Amino acid sequence: MKSKTVSELLTQNISLTEVEIKGWVRTFRANRFIALNDGSTINNIQCVVDFEKFDESLLKKINTGAAIHVIGNLVESQGKGQNVEIQVTDLKVLGESDPETYPIQPKKHSFEFLRENAHLRTRTNTFSAVMRLRSSLSFAIHKYFNDNGFFYMHAPIITGSDAEGAGEMFRVTSLDAKNPPLNDQGHIDYSKDFFGKETNLTVSGQLEAETYAMSLGKVYTFGPTFRAENSNTSRHLAEFWMIEPEVAFMDLAGNMDLAEDFLKFVISYILTNNKEDLDFLDKRLQDEEKSKPQDQRSDMTLKEKLSFVTENNFKRVSYTEAIDILRESKPNKKKKFKYIINEWGADLQSEHERYLVEKHFKCPVILFDYPANIKAFYMRLNDDGKTVRAMDILFPGIGEIVGGAQREERLEVLKQKMAAINIPEEDLWWYLDLRKFGTATHAGFGLGFERLVMFVTGMSNIRDVIPFPRTPQNAEF
Ligand code: 4AD
Ligand code: MG
Repeated sequence: MKSKTVSELLTQNISLTEVEIKGWVRTFRANRFIALNDGSTINNIQCVVDFEKFDESLLKKINTGAAIHVIGNLVESQGKGQNVEIQVTDLKVLGESDPETYPIQPKKHSFEFLRENAHLRTRTNTFSAVMRLRSSLSFAIHKYFNDNGFFYMHAPIITGSDAEGAGEMFRVTSLDAKNPPLNDQGHIDYSKDFFGKETNLTVSGQLEAETYAMSLGKVYTFGPTFRAENSNTSRHLAEFWMIEPEVAFMDLAGNMDLAEDFLKFVISYILTNNKEDLDFLDKRLQDEEKSKPQDQRSDMTLKEKLSFVTENNFKRVSYTEAIDILRESKPNKKKKFKYIINEWGADLQSEHERYLVEKHFKCPVILFDYPANIKAFYMRLNDDGKTVRAMDILFPGIGEIVGGAQREERLEVLKQKMAAINIPEEDLWWYLDLRKFGTATHAGFGLGFERLVMFVTGMSNIRDVIPFPRTPQNAEF
């Protein structure tokens, strides 16, 4: 007899009467009903024990969190809430769980508490649902690109370049920390680093992806990226996953079309394929909404929010138009924005992004043609000489979810832009080579994977959508 998963038992028309299953006990009621979960689905299977047939010492070990092995007959259930159940004929406890010390009790735990127990939190309904959705979303992302002729490219994790030019990097060194080589001034000599130059963890695979776009045509990366920004917000991590498509012969308009089509596809995929987990998270979110003051409650369910994105066009607005809107708007009756935008050229803060998406347009927004001086050096300068072909996609409840651009393909212009912010040409000689040999229009974007998972699951803190969050406070596991 082959062991089945709970998901298989509950969804397949199993003609077996005798079944075997392994999982972790969620609850054990009345010395009779075990709710067993094995992670394959949000649902538990009920295992019914005839306590007279089993040793009391064995029954005592069936505690929340214990791993057990059950053999029994699959029968139609008399009880409410499940179609089938297992009448247990044989039962082994594989791994005990001390009820006095097991942290995950069958009650509501706070997300803060569960973050401290990140190694066990996927044994709860909420976190198992979130992580199954995260897995499914990854698959949908690969599927989209594979179905559309993109090649998956593995960008390096350790790199000598700062793709965003923002200096938010974690240094990587193989030098002996206790006894580092020193230069004439007595400072650590990083030129003696293992790679003969300064290296860091990548902030983005974009520059390397550009080299592949300029040979394979359509590529994407999907890997971990790192930012040494000391921000304690609910939307920032020091280690996050990014999806970065890069396409040769594509301009900014093509980039917007690609991003919109891609986001709609992956969200539709989840709506079709992950109904049970979505239903659970939807209900969780509605309960959470009920605890908020009336005027702050969302009138849409999670599934309505997702369907809204898949069914409506994203609004495309230039930075200049957005600034005009913001200057004239009052975010609410009493308050002004914390940070008031007076001048063209200022960077938008998250309060402005949220206002545009949630109050003004009430749909996903693509902002484009930003001032050159607030965006990265590699973006294509427009003919006006002051804006670049950048785009940010803003989502309701999330803010910026995608950042992208058409890339500067003209050698001389790129050199000037690098010189203006003191990036030495030697550092990016290979990147400049792409503009020397067969240069062409090309574009791409980066989607912050965790921000997408937040949107799809309705979770409000980014620490709760990645298995082991790396933030200034959490790096323990
Ligand atoms: O806007 P960003 O910095 O763009 C880039 O890195 C480009 N090189 C991408 C490209 O064009 N290939 O980052 C892209 C996205 C953001 O829109 C956001 O969703 C996410 O990455 N992101 C973060 N997510 C979590 N924690 C952080 N600290 C993040 N920083 C950026
Ligand atoms: Mg950005």
